[in-house]
Amino acid sequence: MEQGKSGRALVVGGDSLVGSELQVHCRKLGWTVEATSRRTEMPGAVFLDLGDPDFTPVQRGTYDVAFVCAAITSMQACQSDPARSRRINVDNTLDLMRRLADRGTHLVFLSSSQVFDGETPLPDEAAPTAPKNEYGAQKLAVEQAIERQKLPAAVLRVTKVLADRPVGVFKGWFEALAKGQPVQAATNMALSPVMVADVAAAAERLATGRHRGVWHLGSSDDIGYFDAARLMAERRHLPLSLVQGEELTDAQVPEIYRHRYVTLGCEKIARTLPMPVRRARDILDALFAGFPR
Ligand SMILES: NC(=O)c1ccc[n+]([C@@H]2O[C@H](COP(=O)([O-])OP(=O)(O)OC[C@H]3O[C@@H](n4cnc5c(N)ncnc54)[C@H](OP(=O)(O)O)[C@@H]3O)[C@@H](O)[C@H]2O)c1
Repeated sequence: MEQGKSGRALVVGGDSLVGSELQVHCRKLGWTVEATSRRTEMPGAVFLDLGDPDFTPVQRGTYDVAFVCAAITSMQACQSDPARSRRINVDNTLDLMRRLADRGTHLVFLSSSQVFDGETPLPDEAAPTAPKNEYGAQKLAVEQAIERQKLPAAVLRVTKVLADRPVGVFKGWFEALAKGQPVQAATNMALSPVMVADVAAAAERLATGRHRGVWHLGSSDDIGYFDAARLMAERRHLPLSLVQGEELTDAQVPEIYRHRYVTLGCEKIARTLPMPVRRARDILDALFAGFPR
């Protein structure tokens, strides 16, 4: 597909955070977008369950590009059932990607900074991988198969993807602080955030340019969870004194889910696509400013 020309896209995992944003982003650019779902009630969705896949509905379509977002994304779920999660996240994902590639579809696979062990600051795309948990190992297995099988795919490794509304830990803090309740935020864990809109834009540009290889996207630095909670309180005029710091123990968050260095080296994507690589504090500042009043 030529740069600037719209085409036909398939979003695999249309109900996911990234997949939902990709649909909006690509439709705004004039693309025809179809999305897979496990929800039979979703109008227009192409049914696909990677746990027990029937690829017939997907193979009825012709797509210029496909964004592979569907996965078991809970690291704990992958760890506790490696066989089932590997079947979905690796074997059946690769089977789908091969079928799409055979029909001329260019692929963008959503991978993760969990392919690293987090012991090296700012790893670039060529840095040695060493996943510490099953989720990261599964992402790496797909990446390696893409390379081995020469699939027409870009691998987009992202850090912590944030929605533009309060979800997860941010929702918990926001609601508690608004009710005047204290919150505990980790003093010994950090995040490298990236907004979902930036992930969608990067994935689309990789697809449009028919790029291959590995690409990193995150923020240019990290921010501790305690500092993030304090920033939220300040930004929303919520009581700062209710934000309490807590050193997380291994019992709360096992070592295999923690990275000393969470930020990826993102020069390649910044230079080539180009994509903005924003400061962690600026990302959170803009995010918190947009939270509901
Ligand atoms: N979010 C992050 O911070 C982050 C960071 C690094 C990498 N990534 C990667 O980026 C991609 C998108 O992440 P996300 O956070 O947007 O995902 P998400 O919101 O957690 O959604 C995951 C999607 O996968 C689908 N799925 C799970 N099992 C499936 C199965 N057996 N068959 C078909 N679909 C299945 C889910 O379908 P249901 O809705 O039906 O359950 C859901 O739509 C994932 O590959 C993820 O690993 C995300």
